[in-house]
Amino acid sequence: MQLPDSQIKASFDLVENPVSFISSYLKNQSFTAVFVLTDRNTRRHCLPLIKEALPKSTVIIQIPAGEMHKTLDSCSAVWEKLTAKNADRKALLINLGGGMIGDLGGFCAAAYKRGIAFVQMPTSLLAMVDACLGGKTGVDFGGFKNQIGAFAQPEAVWIYQPFLKTLPETELLSGFAEIIKHALIADAPAWHLLRKRELKNQNWSELIPASLQVKKQIVEIDPFEKGERKKLNAGHTLGHALESFLMKKGNPHPHGHCVAAGLVMEGRIAVEKGLLPENELIQIEELVYALYGIIPFSRTDVPAILRLCQQDKKNEAGKVRMALIGPIGNCTTDVEATEADLKMALRYYLG
Ligand SMILES: NC(=O)c1ccc[n+]([C@@H]2O[C@H](COP(=O)([O-])OP(=O)(O)OC[C@H]3O[C@@H](n4cnc5c(N)ncnc54)[C@H](O)[C@@H]3O)[C@@H](O)[C@H]2O)c1
Ligand SMILES: [Zn+2]
Repeated sequence: MQLPDSQIKASFDLVENPVSFISSYLKNQSFTAVFVLTDRNTRRHCLPLIKEALPKSTVIIQIPAGEMHKTLDSCSAVWEKLTAKNADRKALLINLGGGMIGDLGGFCAAAYKRGIAFVQMPTSLLAMVDACLGGKTGVDFGGFKNQIGAFAQPEAVWIYQPFLKTLPETELLSGFAEIIKHALIADAPAWHLLRKRELKNQNWSELIPASLQVKKQIVEIDPFEKGERKKLNAGHTLGHALESFLMKKGNPHPHGHCVAAGLVMEGRIAVEKGLLPENELIQIEELVYALYGIIPFSRTDVPAILRLCQQDKKNEAGKVRMALIGPIGNCTTDVEATEADLKMALRYYLG
């Protein structure tokens, strides 16, 4: 049964000692079996940190790492394993991994026998501050991202920050872009905290809960993306078009790096529309260029990126609408952007 919107809670636990935390959670529940979904990297780096808490009978399901494996074939492999091990409707699936594992595992759990319990235990920064919360699950299909999926709420979300120690720096940077976005749309104090520090000196214990809090508040107001949740698309209209363009060109760039560029480009549109003060755009640019450099595309690529923007599934009646930041800590949704606005923003980014 679908809960009324107002009853959906996006709660999370900040875990200090994962072994005692998970042991006592499992002791207090009556799951008939525990399954843990990992990819190769999270099995190697993260599973050992929680293994002691898991019952001896726990079944580890491993699927290949990477977005290209966020597919129905991987779901089949998960469902086959659950079936082979006779998982019943009281089984628990713990998704131990980045956003790929969380999205795919959440979907597998939601569909297996019409739904079993699952816990999100994110291991990448992006998953910790973004993907683990909000109930969006699914897989890519037919060349489209997250084409098949469902809204499904996890039993719990466990944030254990030391997993980040083994996360490659590019992945850390990619996730950091979502922290920057959350600060810019709704948390000006976090913005002023993070913008003064280098990546390696960021205070994750403060930034991760603050960032999760922004996402939590937004998704609790709007669990099914009817209004408020559009704020989370800041930086993503042009960022996502750039990401798709680079992917098609065979020069893929991480999601967060493209979103960071999107924040600058869309920031320019926000300045033109009188939403963002120019000096605040300069602050955003300074941070984004220092951390992410300039993403390589040229003026001749602009028409192709514009076409991708116009195909964005978030558009309504063929109009490009975006969530624009400004002043920092605030965001306006559904602002219509013309082709001229988008062209100007892409050209501005290139300097
Ligand atoms: N559901 C949502 O609301 C939501 C929101 C944002 C993104 N997403 C989805 O999240 C996915 C991207 O997430 P991601 O960036 O975490 O990708 P990912 O899960 O592919 O992880 C990135 C890489 O880091 C590795 N990794 C993860 N944790 C590690 C650790 N602690 N140590 C070493 N290696 C580790 C993974 O094995 C993988 O190779 C996309 O599929 C996107 O669609 C979902
Ligand atoms: Zn994103």
